[in-house]
Amino acid sequence: MKSKHTFPQKGLPEGAIMTRILKVRKEDTNFTGGTVFGSMCTSPLDIAKKVHGMFLESNLGNPGLYPGTINLEKEVHKAVASLVHAPEGYEALSVGGATEGNILALWRARNESGKKKVVLPESAHFSFKKACDLLGMEPVNIPLDQSYQPDLSVMEEKINDETAVVVGIAGTTELGLVEPIGALAEITGDIHLHVDAAFGGFTIPFLKEGSAPEFDFKIPGVDSLVLDPHKMGLSTIPLGLYYSRDEHPISVESPYLTGDHQKTLTGTRTSASIPAFWSVIKHLGFDGYESIMESCMENTRLLFKLGTSIGLKPIVDPVLNIVSFHHEHPGEVVKEMRERGWNISRTVNPPGLRFVVMPHVTEESIRRMIPVLEESI
Ligand SMILES: Cc1ncc(COP(=O)(O)O)c(C=O)c1O
Repeated sequence: MKSKHTFPQKGLPEGAIMTRILKVRKEDTNFTGGTVFGSMCTSPLDIAKKVHGMFLESNLGNPGLYPGTINLEKEVHKAVASLVHAPEGYEALSVGGATEGNILALWRARNESGKKKVVLPESAHFSFKKACDLLGMEPVNIPLDQSYQPDLSVMEEKINDETAVVVGIAGTTELGLVEPIGALAEITGDIHLHVDAAFGGFTIPFLKEGSAPEFDFKIPGVDSLVLDPHKMGLSTIPLGLYYSRDEHPISVESPYLTGDHQKTLTGTRTSASIPAFWSVIKHLGFDGYESIMESCMENTRLLFKLGTSIGLKPIVDPVLNIVSFHHEHPGEVVKEMRERGWNISRTVNPPGLRFVVMPHVTEESIRRMIPVLEESI
């Protein structure tokens, strides 16, 4: 009898299912070939993929059932805390990504201050729009100056008694810039200062010393910070880490689970990313990350040079592994490149073409991409 609904009536054998799954997998973009320049994620290390698959049923929302994973989580939190100079008494939370971490920071700042205004640069990621809307908070956008950094004099003017939180970005999404967090801290005083280091958190610590400004808890005014293992941490999606200088105060009782409270936004959630990321940290070590970052920066400089040689004007000198060039109609170029098998991205402020030079991007793929780009611009 014909099923009345589109939900399958009878089950199929695994072989039939896998035929479709393998076909679909081929339709999706993957990172081999180095054709993706528009993603801040990359193929996780093999060890992360292997380990992730071993923990699929475990649930960080019910931690008492998974003491082994929780021990690894503590090790991960401690290792990354030292990378971002979190002081004694810090609290770390494993979250789904920087979006969730940014929401947690604003939520805390709103509740503690009783205020609603979020002072943030125009370079801030769109996740802050979600956070403000959800939390009934009001963004106060600070324009960027000629070097695409937040205009500090405007920021100083806009911070007032109604400000709940000030946001600084370490590794802006569009240009990969590290904002002057130290200077922001001087302006904010006692107001909560949150650093979005989604991209910078696993890139800046591995750069040559002094090539990017300080951005983390070394700066006494920084109250919270988020960074993403699922971006340049080279681990599996989903994993973000939220750090608070002191104990994060927002907590909801979860009496019928093995943990007695939850501090994250999501409840039931995969814990597989924790052992996966633990394995990446152990496998690469600081030296491994450093050498991957070095090669990303080398490729970044190559793309910068070759892009310039075909007449494109860089928006800024790259600090991290992102290169962006001015272009009046970036959407059209992105579309044409896509049709020709290349995924690039665009900037909005100012309009331009954006290339994220992740570890899957190689010298060879850059050299193959440039002539296509030259024909498309
Ligand atoms: C600076 C910055 N913050 C936050 C995010 C959001 O991260 P996620 O998508 O992991 O939640 C991104 C993503 O690209 C980002 O670049």
